[in-house]
Amino acid sequence: MKPTRILPLALTLGLCAVALAAAPTVDGKELYSAKCASCHGADGSKTIMSKPVKGLKAADFTKMMLGYKAKTYGGTKKATMETQAGNLSEDEIKALAAYVAKL
Ligand code: HEC
Repeated sequence: MKPTRILPLALTLGLCAVALAAAPTVDGKELYSAKCASCHGADGSKTIMSKPVKGLKAADFTKMMLGYKAKTYGGTKKATMETQAGNLSEDEIKALAAYVAKL
């Protein structure tokens, strides 16, 4: 690679690193809309798949999500939620808990 091509590449990588470092903390609302609303409804009241998640207290919600993650909680359809919870970090679960508690 010619030296003249390395500079733009280095700049691009540098900018990506800055963008990642500046990433905002997890937005529970955004995360819920993107990953949960399809099954649980925009306001958490949908009951076709599950009991409603609307109004779950943050502590109860967190226990359930960590339980799904650890495969120690759930009903007959828990496999679905084990996958969902398994993909979430504890920070994401925390942000979701705060959001769901306010639904
Ligand atoms: C593909 C559909 C689907 C998606 C997407 C989904 N869920 Fe679920 N959820 C379910 C099903 C089905 C159950 C019932 C599982 C069982 O039998 O334990 C459930 C159960 C739950 C429960 C337990 C409710 C209770 O009272 O026991 C919580 C909390 C929950 N989901 C939160 C979430 C969150 C938060 C997300 C987004 C990260 C999410 N779910 C995404 C289908 C889904």
